[in-house]
Amino acid sequence: MPNLKGRDLLTLAEYGRDDIYHLLAKGLELKRRQRLGALERPLDGKTVAMIFEKPSTRTRVSFESGVAQLGASAIYLGSDDLQLARGETVSDTGKTLSRYVDAIVIRTFGHDRVEALADAADVPVVNALSDDYHPCQTLADLLTILERKDRLAGLRVAYIGDGNNVCNSLMIGAAKVGARISVATPKGYEPTSEAMAVIEDCVRGFVDSVKVTNDPIEAVTGADIVYTDVWVSMGQDSEREARLAKFDGYQVDKKMMRKAKRDALFMHCLPAHRGEEVAADVIDGPNSVVFDQAENRLHAQKALLVALLG
Ligand code: CP
Ligand code: NVA
Repeated sequence: MPNLKGRDLLTLAEYGRDDIYHLLAKGLELKRRQRLGALERPLDGKTVAMIFEKPSTRTRVSFESGVAQLGASAIYLGSDDLQLARGETVSDTGKTLSRYVDAIVIRTFGHDRVEALADAADVPVVNALSDDYHPCQTLADLLTILERKDRLAGLRVAYIGDGNNVCNSLMIGAAKVGARISVATPKGYEPTSEAMAVIEDCVRGFVDSVKVTNDPIEAVTGADIVYTDVWVSMGQDSEREARLAKFDGYQVDKKMMRKAKRDALFMHCLPAHRGEEVAADVIDGPNSVVFDQAENRLHAQKALLVALLG
């Protein structure tokens, strides 16, 4: 069994196929136990600091309730709660918090802040979303696909929209578990060359597993999973009008879904903007599993915390 004790989770590139399958199996077990009312409290007495420099519904609440369910305590630290807001360095913050808590969860802007925190901290650091990666989301997404399709290897995933943080971690996760992923973005919104280099570096058979195109119909044809995310991420509000114009034609609607397999799942990390990246009758339709994804944040992150701290 892989040993993840003491590790960080920054992008998902640092975890191998077996690590990911181990976390998914543990997440499914914890979900089953919770349904039976048979959850144990393996993290009794531990404390997790949660630094959130951007808003959050799912990540914050699933981490806070998950930590409590495991017997540990969470301390929520918003942007104005720390001396970070007055110029204390991320590094000094990491060194200080490590003297008090057993893990640090961080949601922030530049991914370099997550890396600096992880470099300085003596305790595991978990990326709860940076501008470039969202690995906790991907773990929950893979858990959801596994539940619904009973396998991951060999599946075809289409990601339509912005080549963003969610897209980057999904490419890594999907390729690592043996799925094939096609990403379709408008020109200029492809995943960055830095992100592609990270993925190429960590995925065996990269050329066969990951394709990037500007043609959404090419990406979605024959897909088992159709995934999208917002066109305007947190921190990009000033680009809103320009982005809405550029992403015209990339909405996942019924017509696009018909190109995928008949039993294709529709996925979205949420929050969603109906009428922008997805049509209401798709996200609210029978193939949508978006609230399973949201629920599975809880189970996947509990599995992660048990593995890192247990
Ligand atoms: N999917 C996700 O991370 O949602 P929140 O921004 O609500 O945490
Ligand atoms: N790409 C989105 C994801 C939100 C969960 C953002 O960064 O705002």
